[in-house]
This record gives sequence, structure tokens and C-alpha cells, in this order.
Amino acid sequence: MDVLKWRLLPLLPLLASLLFYYIKNPLKPSQSECSLLAHNHFWISSKRIVTPKGLISGAVEVKGGNIILILEEDWQGNFKTGQVIDYGDAVVMPGLIDVHVHLDDPGREEWEGFPSGTRAAAAGGLTTLVDMPLNSFPSTVSEETFELKIKAADKRIHVDVGFWGGLVPENAFNRSALEGLLKAGVLGLKARVFALFSLFYFLNLLLREEHQSSFMCPSGINDFPMTNAVHIKEGLSVLAKYKRPLLVHAEIQHELEGILELDDSAVDPRYYSTYLKTRPASWEEAAIRELLTVTNGTRTGGRAEGAHLHIVHLSDARSSLELIKEAKRNGDSITVETCTHYLAFSAEEIQDGDTRFKCAPPIRDSANKETLWEALMGGHIDLLSSDHSPSVPELKRLDDGNFLKAWGGISSLQFVLPVTWTYGRKYGITLEQLASWWSEKPAKLAGLDLKGAIAIGNHADIVVWEPEVEFVLNDTHPVYIKHPVSVLMAHKHCWCLGSSARDYPNLCDRSVDQSRHFQAIDEGFWFLLLIGCIVQWKMYVVKCLPAKTEAEKIEEIMLET
Ligand SMILES: *[C@@H]1O[C@H](CO)[C@@H](O)[C@H](O)[C@H]1NC(C)=O
Ligand SMILES: *[C@@H]1O[C@H](CO)[C@@H](O)[C@H](O)[C@H]1NC(C)=O
Ligand SMILES: *[C@@H]1O[C@H](CO)[C@@H](O)[C@H](O)[C@H]1NC(C)=O
Ligand SMILES: [Zn+2]
Repeated sequence: MDVLKWRLLPLLPLLASLLFYYIKNPLKPSQSECSLLAHNHFWISSKRIVTPKGLISGAVEVKGGNIILILEEDWQGNFKTGQVIDYGDAVVMPGLIDVHVHLDDPGREEWEGFPSGTRAAAAGGLTTLVDMPLNSFPSTVSEETFELKIKAADKRIHVDVGFWGGLVPENAFNRSALEGLLKAGVLGLKARVFALFSLFYFLNLLLREEHQSSFMCPSGINDFPMTNAVHIKEGLSVLAKYKRPLLVHAEIQHELEGILELDDSAVDPRYYSTYLKTRPASWEEAAIRELLTVTNGTRTGGRAEGAHLHIVHLSDARSSLELIKEAKRNGDSITVETCTHYLAFSAEEIQDGDTRFKCAPPIRDSANKETLWEALMGGHIDLLSSDHSPSVPELKRLDDGNFLKAWGGISSLQFVLPVTWTYGRKYGITLEQLASWWSEKPAKLAGLDLKGAIAIGNHADIVVWEPEVEFVLNDTHPVYIKHPVSVLMAHKHCWCLGSSARDYPNLCDRSVDQSRHFQAIDEGFWFLLLIGCIVQWKMYVVKCLPAKTEAEKIEEIMLET
């Protein structure tokens, strides 16, 4: 009975409004419109709508996939036509935008792919994601390879998708190649960085075969070569013209330590501590130092004014973050993101052999995690992302638990909102902050001017959810990512993240919409534009299951809030 209640309750408002619709208008709703109710024109009302001006009680008028009016309080008297969906006091928020996702399509669809990845995104409250140029094959580093991306995504996506292009040594000095890529529609460029003339880079090349995963950036893939500060400088000068960002994976090997230790047979590759030693925080710091030698060009009056540098997946909350703060003070155009897994977990909790938690840079100690939260709350970390980076389960090597050989990447796309909320409650995060980290700032970074906020004129990309409702992520919870290896199995270790995807069947399936794809919204600025999807979504606060200590831990978190 309980199960039934769980499943039916979230559907009630929907059923009620459908009924209302059919009574008023017994015509079949058009399949071509992309929204929860397949209406072209309707109102959403709630006592908690997150807008740029704060939380309001009122109603949002949606027409043709856009928000055309927002009314506060006594809105009832004001609307004349259209259907009303009253969500009571459920939260109505801008849909989440994840700027760091690897869907591995084309080329490695068996790892994820557009259909399952974007479906998981929709089920998790994300209405837009930006796909990374690496881990798919080939990497997106030219107009031709970008075209393959577009083809792979065409009619196979359930949420809006944008793309980053790759800045690699082969295109960094070829201005026309980079411009071609930007004109074709990538929202910006992504690079990995190594120190110029670094001994360690060459050692890396030499030893790559032997110690595969530990010497590559998290992708563990060789077809996306690293760039140095000179390449970065070139990239920034091209990006300046287009006013788009460069995203950088900031880790540089600069110590022999890691390499030597791997050769010590006394070190157990199953220990998480072994892995942690191979990627110390000083790698992040070294990379950021290197980057900051060129970001001064992005200042007002600099040679790359208009370009912007964004550091992805920061894990080191100490010296690396201090460097970024200083650069911001100096006027560099620079932002930084961290990911949900760095905010939710700490090294102390990771069991030896549990390679589901392997990612790069690694999840560090709990004191570091606290500092990350402080930086986020203090506005020094600008936004959040998932860095969803799946692989086939075999590559995670759960059987032998070898951290040095396992694929580095965490699958979390469907669960970023509940994770952020569940863990963030302890720090007193607000709905407005959630919307800023997950919608407003990501939209700004990607240049998606009509997204990221519930505001008049914007796309009606909306998520509806109930922060107070609890749910458990267990084996019966629907998971839409292709390989639920790092989430479903991890619930035993209290990775009980989750959203309720129970309502998924009610989502419009954008992939069946043949009429809308690729619309230009700005000159030279293309992306898949499929607007106006509403993700209805319920449930909250994670409660943990089996292991007793873990359950206690969660209870503790809940008590503290
Ligand atoms: C630069 O890129 C363009 C377009 O990809 C290509 O046709 C051209 O050969 C490249 N130039 C050099 C010098 O590599
Ligand atoms: C940026 O820094 C470099 C080296 O640190 C310096 O040569 C250059 O003049 C600086 N540029 C600006 C715009 O401050
Ligand atoms: C999973 O959790 C739900 C509650 O959210 C519960 O009703 C169900 O019995 C659980 N299933 C398993 C297999 O534990
Ligand atoms: Zn990544």
C-alpha cells in the first residue's frame, strides 16, 4: 500500500489538471508541444517559486515554451485564459543546467550515449546539459568532428543539449580551425593542461602504457592530448572575439613521488590512500599557477579581454582556491566549479577496493570537504556540476578493486539535485543558492541568455520538486543512466542519492519531436533548442539503508539540520 502511495501521490496534481483540461477542452492535446501537459499555453502556480528576485508565491504564465508573465500573490484575478497547474507549496525552480557532462556519444555509446544520459538528466531535474568534447570518439576538436556530435544527438535527446569543443595542440595555433569550431556552434572550448617542458609530461608519455590510468587525466583516454600555457593563451585570444569561455582540467604532474611509489610493490593498489597519493592537491595548485600566468590577458584592456577561464571540478579547497581568489581580486575573468561528489564524500569514508569513487582529481579528506562547502557558501566557488563520466562496468574493475587501473569517473547525473540538497542542508543552503549554483551561473558560463532563471522572456525550463519529502534510493528506484554501477551499488555505502523518476512517463519525450531541432538563436551560435519542457519531480532528503553505521551517520546529518 505504501509503495502505491509513493507512486500515486506525485501524480495527483497532474491527473487533476489533466482532468480539468479534458473537461474544459475535450480535444486531444497536441503531441508536438513539449511540456508536461502538452499544452501550449498554461499557468503554473505555487507558494514557492524561485525567481531572481527571491522566493515568491504566485504564478508563471507559459506560452509556446516561454515564460511570458510572472504574477505574485493575488494572481488569480489576473489570468483570463489557459490551464492552471497548481503545485501547492512544491518548489518551482529553473531547471538545472549541468555544464560538465560526458555522454561519450558517438564512439563510446556503450558507456552512456545521448538517449540514456539525457533521460537520466530529465529524471533528475536537469533541463539542459553541456556535453564535453572528450571520451566520445572522435573527440570534438574540429568542425567535422562537431558535425558527428550533432548527428549523434539529433532526435535522440530528452533535454536541451549544448556542446563544448576541444582545445588541443593540433588546433591551438590554427586560428581558422578554432574559429570554424566556434562558428559551427560550440559554446566554448575545453582543455587539459600540462607544464611547458615538463619532465613529468615526458615521463608520463613513457610510462603511460605501464601505469595507464594514473598518468592520464580522468578521461583515461589518449585521443585528447594536453595543452600548455602557450596553447591556452592562443585559445583565449580566439575566444575573446567570440566572448566564450575556456574550461580547463587543472592538474599537472610535477612530482616524481607518485610515479616512484607506484613501482614500490609494497604499495597496495586497492588502498584508496595509494590512489590519493598519486594525485596530490599540489597537482591542482601547480596547474592553476600555470594557468594564471596567462589569464591576466582576460582583464579589462588585456589582449584576451572578452575571453573567460573556467576551472572545472576543483577538489583542492586550500592553496588552489586561494590562487583563484587572488586572480579574481586582480580582475582576471575566471570562475571555478566543484562537483557534487567532492561535496558529499570524503576520503575517510571510501573503502579500499571501492573503485566506484575513483575520479580525478580525487575526493580528498573531510577537512577539505568542509572547506569546499565554506568556499561555496562564501561565493568563492561559482557553480556546481556533475562531471558525469561513466564507463562500462568492467573498466571500473570492481572485481579486483585496483584503484590505479580502474576507470576514473563518477556517474551521478540523475542525482545531483538531491545530493546537493541533502548534504547542503547541514550547511543551511537555500533554494535561491541552489538555483544560482545549478541554473543561473551555469547558464551565464555557457552563454545561454534565455535560460537559468524563471524570468519573463526566458525558456520555460522548469523543475518542480518537494524539498521536504524523503525517499530512499534502493534497488527499486528507477535509474536511467546506462550503467548504474556507481550509484545503485553504492547505496550500501550510503550513496543513497536520488530523485524520484517515478513521474518520468509523464515527461514529454523530446526525441519523438521531429519538427524541432537545430534552431539558430544568435548569429553563429547554434545549439539544440528544444524548449519548454517541464520536469515534474518529487521526493527528498536521503535516508540511508542497510549498514547500521551509515544509517546513523545520515540520521546525524538530519538531526543537525
Ligand atoms: C587549419 O585548419 C584548417 C581547417 O581545419 C585546415 O584546413 C588547415 O589545413 C589547417 N592549417 C594548418 C596549418 O594546419
Ligand atoms: C600578464 O603577465 C605577464 C607575465 O606574468 C606579463 O608579461 C604581462 O604583461 C601581463 N599582462 C597584463 C595585461 O597584465
Ligand atoms: C525501496 O524504498 C521504498 C521506499 O522509498 C520501499 O517502499 C521499498 O520497499 C524499498 N525496496 C527495497 C528493495 O528495499
Ligand atoms: Zn570531466
